[in-house]
Amino acid sequence: MEVGVRSPKRQQIIRLSQRLLKIALGLLVLGLVFGVGFYGVLFAVAPRPVAKAYHQWGVPFQKCLECHQSGNHAPLMTHRPVRFCFPCHRPREDQKK
Ligand code: HEC
Ligand code: HEC
Repeated sequence: MEVGVRSPKRQQIIRLSQRLLKIALGLLVLGLVFGVGFYGVLFAVAPRPVAKAYHQWGVPFQKCLECHQSGNHAPLMTHRPVRFCFPCHRPREDQKK
């Protein structure tokens, strides 16, 4: 059993790196919580269009933009044109608003 072979300098370095590791882990957890929370909120509050021929999972996002950027009959989208719509705007089957 060899104990006490570590010099004080080495112990200092070890303690410092342990503290840095804890800080890094804390930041990682915080980032995860805020990142997931941010998109979770958007996901939850996005209005769900009533399922129609043009409101289906298979429709490419370019089709969505054709209607929702022109502002003819469809409501204008209130945010930037992103490259995907469906994780947030899932079509719903029921007809009530
Ligand atoms: C043919 C044009 C057209 C296309 C394509 C289209 N929409 Fe719509 N969208 C409409 C119209 C019209 C409405 C108004 C309500 C309705 O008819 O359901 C609407 C309503 C919506 C709403 C608002 C729902 C509410 O209750 O406020 C969302 C969100 C939406 N569409 C998302 C999408 C997404 C995502 C796509 C791509 C899959 C898409 N739309 C494709 C015409 C279109
Ligand atoms: C990250 C989630 C997210 C994505 C992806 C997304 N949206 Fe939205 N969308 C929202 C939220 C949240 C709102 C409500 C914002 C508001 O009320 O100001 C919204 C609002 C809208 C509205 C206005 C609905 C109304 O009744 O006023 C339309 C139209 C719309 N989005 C279309 C689209 C289309 C088309 C796409 C794909 C190109 C898309 N969205 C992608 C979250 C998203």
